[in-house]
Amino acid sequence: MSSSPRRWGRRQVLQSSAAALGGAGLGWSAAAGLLPAPAAAEETTGAPATTTVPSPGNETVSFHAAHQAGIATPPQATLTLIGLDLRDGVTKPDLGRMLSLLSDDAARLTRGLPALADTEPELAEHPARLSVTFGFGPRVMDQLLGGRVGGLKALPDFKTDRLDPAWGQTDLAVQICAEDPLTLAHARRMILKDSADFATVRWLQEGYRYAHGTVPDGTTMRNVMGQVDGTVNPVEADPDFASLVWSQQAGFEGGTFMVVRRMRTELDTWDKVDRPGREATIGRTLDNGAPLTGTSEHDEPDFEATDDLGFPVIDPASHVARARSEDPAQRFHRRSYNYTVPDPSRPTGEDSGLVFIAFAADLERQFVPVQARLAELDRLNEWVTTIGSAVYAIPPGAAEDEYVGQGLVER
Ligand code: HEM
Repeated sequence: MSSSPRRWGRRQVLQSSAAALGGAGLGWSAAAGLLPAPAAAEETTGAPATTTVPSPGNETVSFHAAHQAGIATPPQATLTLIGLDLRDGVTKPDLGRMLSLLSDDAARLTRGLPALADTEPELAEHPARLSVTFGFGPRVMDQLLGGRVGGLKALPDFKTDRLDPAWGQTDLAVQICAEDPLTLAHARRMILKDSADFATVRWLQEGYRYAHGTVPDGTTMRNVMGQVDGTVNPVEADPDFASLVWSQQAGFEGGTFMVVRRMRTELDTWDKVDRPGREATIGRTLDNGAPLTGTSEHDEPDFEATDDLGFPVIDPASHVARARSEDPAQRFHRRSYNYTVPDPSRPTGEDSGLVFIAFAADLERQFVPVQARLAELDRLNEWVTTIGSAVYAIPPGAAEDEYVGQGLVER
C-alpha cells in the first residue's frame, strides 16, 4: 500500500499536534492520576481554558504513560474491544502511519479534545475516563515486526473450547473503555474511521460492568451469573503486580500480553440451579462473594476445611479451587466485562456471558496452566462455553512525541 497525499498531509498536522500536546506539559507522571479535562478551546485557539466543571464525565486517564492505559487502570463501566485485520499489502511503514493516526486520536480524545477532523467534536467534550489500548496479534508480531519479541503464541486447544472463527484471532486489537457509552461510541467511531484505509473490522465485542456511581469505587463487579467476580486478582498496588504483568523483554519493557476469551454462559439452565448448588459451583457465596469457609469477601479460603460428614466445604472441583495454584507465578490480572447481545436462536432471545480479558507478562507460564486445569475439571464448565479466543502483544505506553508501538515498528 502506498501512502496517499491525504495521509501525508495529515501526518504533518499530526507532528505539529504532537508538539502541541507535548507543550501542554502532560507527562508520564500524570499516568496514574485522574486529571480534569482541559477545555477544548485552550488547545484549539490558545484562549485560556474556561472553568472545568468537576464531574465524572470530565475525569481523564492519561494516554501518555510508561504503560498503556486500560490495563492497570481501574475498569471503567463500558468496553468495546475491536478485532481488526490488516488489509492486504499493508507494510510496516503503513502500520506505523496507522498507529500514529490512532495514537493521536487516542491522545486527544482521552483529554476531552476532538480528534483531528472530528466531525462531531462536541461528542469529545466529556472524556469520562476514556482509555484506548492497542495490541498486535501473532501475524503482525511475526511477519511485519520480525518476530523479535517472544512470548506471543496461539493458545493450545482446550477440550472445552467450542470456538467460532467469527470471534477468533485478529491482527490487531483496540480496547476502548469509558464510563460513558456515548463517549465510548464516539471514540470507537473515530478509531474505526481512521483505521479504515489500513484494516477491516472482524469483530466488535461490547461489554459492561456496573454503571459509574451505581456502587462505591473499588466494589468488585458482579457477572451476569450473579457472582462477585474479580475478588482474588492482582492489582497495581500489589508488590508483585509489576512482575506478573509488565514484560522485561529487551525492546518490549513495560509491555504485556493480553488474552481474550469470549465465554457464553448458559443462563437458562443456570437459572434452574438452587442457591447452594450455585455457591458450590464457584466455592463462594452469592451474597457477598465470601469463600464458603469464611464470612467476608476477602477472607482467605480454607481448602482443607471439612463439614460434619467429612466432605470438603469448598468442593475441590469448584471454580476457585481449580483456578488457584500453589505456584505463585500462575497468576495474572483479570479485567473482564459482561456482555449481552440479542440472539433470536436462543430460548430467551439473547446471548450473555463474559468477555474474559487477562494480562500477563508471560501467557504460557502464567495463564495456560490455569486454563488447562479449568478445561480438565471445573464445575462451572457445565454453564460456560468458550466461543472466542485470541492473544495480543500490548506494546508499552507511548511518550508524548511517540505513537504506540513505535519502538517495535521503527527499530
Ligand atoms: C464465564 C467464565 C467465568 C466466570 C463466570 C468466572 C467467575 C469467577 C468467580 C465468581 C470467581 C470468584 C471470585 C474471584 O476471585 O474473582 C472467579 C475466580 C477466579 N477465576 Fe474465574 N470465571 C470465569 C472464567 C475464568 C477463566 C477462563 C479463568 C482463567 C483461565 C479464570 C480464572 C480465575 C481465577 C484465577 C480466579 C481466582 C482464584 C483464586 O481464588 O485464587 N476464570 N472466577
